[in-house]
Amino acid sequence: MRKRITNGKWLVILVTLAAILVFAELLSGQTNSLTDAQVQEKASSLLRQMTLDEKVAQLSQLPGFSVPEFKANMGDRSVDEIIRTVGAGSVLWVPEPKEINRLQHLAVEQSRLHIPILFGLDVIHGYHTIFPAPIAMASSWDPKMVEGAQSVAAQETRAAGIQWTFAPMVDIARDARWGRMVEGAGEDPYLGAAMARAQVLGFQGEHLGAPDRVLACVKHFAGYGAADGGRDYDSSYVPEEEMWNVYLPPFKAAIDAGAGSLMSAYMDLNDVPASGNPWLLRDVLRQAWGFKGFVVSDAVAVWSLVTHGYARDLQDAVYKAFTAGLNMDMASGSYLKYLPGEVQQGRITMQQIDDAVMPILESKIRMGLFEHPYFDESRIATVLNDPQHQQAARVAAQRSLVLLRNDKGLLPLDKSGKTIHSIAVIGPLADAQADLLSMWGAIVKPGPTVSIVQGIRDKVGSGVHVEYAHGPNIRRTIPSPFENLPITSSMKEQPEQSPAEAHKASEDAVALARRSDVAVLVLGEINLMSAESASRSSLKLSNGQEELLEAVVPTGKPVVLVLVNGRPLDISWAAEHVPAILEAWYPGSQGGNGVADVLFGDANPAGHLPVSWPRSTGQVPIYYNHNLTQLPETSPDFKSRYWDIPSTPLYPFGYGLSYTTFSVDNLKVEQPVAHVGATIDVSAEVTNTGSRAGDTVVQLYIHQRAGSASRPVRQLKGFERVNLAPGAKQTLHFKLGKDELQFWSPIKKQWVVEPEQFDVWVGEDSAAKLHGEFRLTE
Ligand code: BGC
Repeated sequence: MRKRITNGKWLVILVTLAAILVFAELLSGQTNSLTDAQVQEKASSLLRQMTLDEKVAQLSQLPGFSVPEFKANMGDRSVDEIIRTVGAGSVLWVPEPKEINRLQHLAVEQSRLHIPILFGLDVIHGYHTIFPAPIAMASSWDPKMVEGAQSVAAQETRAAGIQWTFAPMVDIARDARWGRMVEGAGEDPYLGAAMARAQVLGFQGEHLGAPDRVLACVKHFAGYGAADGGRDYDSSYVPEEEMWNVYLPPFKAAIDAGAGSLMSAYMDLNDVPASGNPWLLRDVLRQAWGFKGFVVSDAVAVWSLVTHGYARDLQDAVYKAFTAGLNMDMASGSYLKYLPGEVQQGRITMQQIDDAVMPILESKIRMGLFEHPYFDESRIATVLNDPQHQQAARVAAQRSLVLLRNDKGLLPLDKSGKTIHSIAVIGPLADAQADLLSMWGAIVKPGPTVSIVQGIRDKVGSGVHVEYAHGPNIRRTIPSPFENLPITSSMKEQPEQSPAEAHKASEDAVALARRSDVAVLVLGEINLMSAESASRSSLKLSNGQEELLEAVVPTGKPVVLVLVNGRPLDISWAAEHVPAILEAWYPGSQGGNGVADVLFGDANPAGHLPVSWPRSTGQVPIYYNHNLTQLPETSPDFKSRYWDIPSTPLYPFGYGLSYTTFSVDNLKVEQPVAHVGATIDVSAEVTNTGSRAGDTVVQLYIHQRAGSASRPVRQLKGFERVNLAPGAKQTLHFKLGKDELQFWSPIKKQWVVEPEQFDVWVGEDSAAKLHGEFRLTE
């Protein structure tokens, strides 16, 4: 007789299964199933047992390598000794996995309360498998791909013992002179928010403590990209309305996606350094947004409050940073040195200290560190060498490349050996490896990298002769400080050459082009030219590269220019004289393969620019979402413009070509008149009008014609990357709700949706012409 299972028994079975699952998750070492209340209870109970010094240690991140400011503050106290006696909130930059476990043993076994350390590292776009730099991934306009890439980065990072990454970097950048444009998603708050969200989900998963994920740290809060003159670390002056409408939305999106931590920026924001700025750290972050995680300073940024001329001395800096809302000091030792005294002297209360420590303890609990402080070193190689990671990086590279020009369909090139027998691959970046990884990718622990010349060779096989000429070496006039950091072994400038050597190298390259059927020039910037501490006054191709290009083109051979760089460069000459231009950015470990896939048509490019591309350095800062002046371009005589160049950028924001063509038409606005509060539905049809399958990015822009404040001429408010077979057509639907229609009004000092007339455009870039309109009424 069949035994009947009663409801009660089912319940027991289900509960047992659930328990097994939870247990298995806990065993996997990285997650826990505690409720918010349980997390708080555990953190509070620890807090009750902690001495003041132990609490301050949790508010400190110790350096994993020698930092002069830390040494100056801590004297002979070593990192080991601090961990053993009082513990540590975090340690950063311990690249050796063995060392991570060793330090963790010290904390867990020898410190009084056994509180594990949170280990942090700059895994910005990959740990071992390096994905394209963030500006490149933003060019894919593919948040799902970006989320997947950062989840691979998280897996590798966690496998190597690091639980916290200082990413995503979500600073809006409108000035290409600023070296750190490469680390973010470009100039637009809407695209920036989408990329911020995707990256947080990739790093952290759906919740803190998800298996194989890491704690994200959104940076640099806030306004860092607005540095005066594009000079890194220089002051930013950003009016409140521009902060809310332009610079803050990506941070808000990251926090809404669950980002558990945030890094305060280095620079002065409106005369108050961001790392001691109560408006940012308290009013915006905690009060307006209800952020519950913790804030770490940028490296030694507490100390720099003194340099800014904001704090009298380091003790004053500690007081100002801490009371502004900065939970954790990065690497300067200043909290360790001065916070206890501030409490003893009554300037800071124990309650304030407890409030700052709580979110740090809670994060460690949520991350599962108390249950599983150590990691299994024997697993590292298997995770890092997963071939699927390389495949993901290759797809990411393909999807990030932006085709800027393709005159008479020069690309894709024929790899069969029938029409092209020889290819000259030329340029100082064509055989580069570390440079394809961008600075952070090269600093961390990159695995093997495929150079562009290698990718081309592998693609064409023996049927096409590929020869390489390096051309002149490229290097910064003033070297990067990163070259000499103890942690940055793989980053080097190219050696200095005499003018005669550089000239000879260029002549050899031109000669090679002359005797080949096609020339592929790979030019741009080494990774140290476009990074932190890498601002430049000119966007020109440096060190004789422009001259080389202008010497190769007159050979009459078809020329393809591949750019490897972290910011738009001045390529005005190339835009007229070089038939094919492909923007590769820093394309990552599989960059060479990704570029070859696109050059030879195995992948159809569909990246679109996340920045407006200037014609010359003098045009920056340039961005599409500016306001109208009283004398716009359409006025008859007097105009707000330069007299020596067109006012438009060389390539507009959102621009990118494909090997096929698309048309976007049939724009429909479902509600031409609607009440404030309604959602407007907009649709348009996109058709692949060419003969190849391909992707395009359909973008929607709006403009509010009048209101309580002047509004930008256009603002991106929707996009979708679509794949279409030749001849295929798809109707895309966009929704314009409160999030898309509101702005922060400087008159009303709040977010508003106003009853006004709106324009809407849909197309393949920010110059789209397909137009509709709607009106919002009271
Ligand atoms: C950078 C941060 C980085 C930190 C730690 C600083 O110099 O500005 O972006 O996360 O160093 O490496």
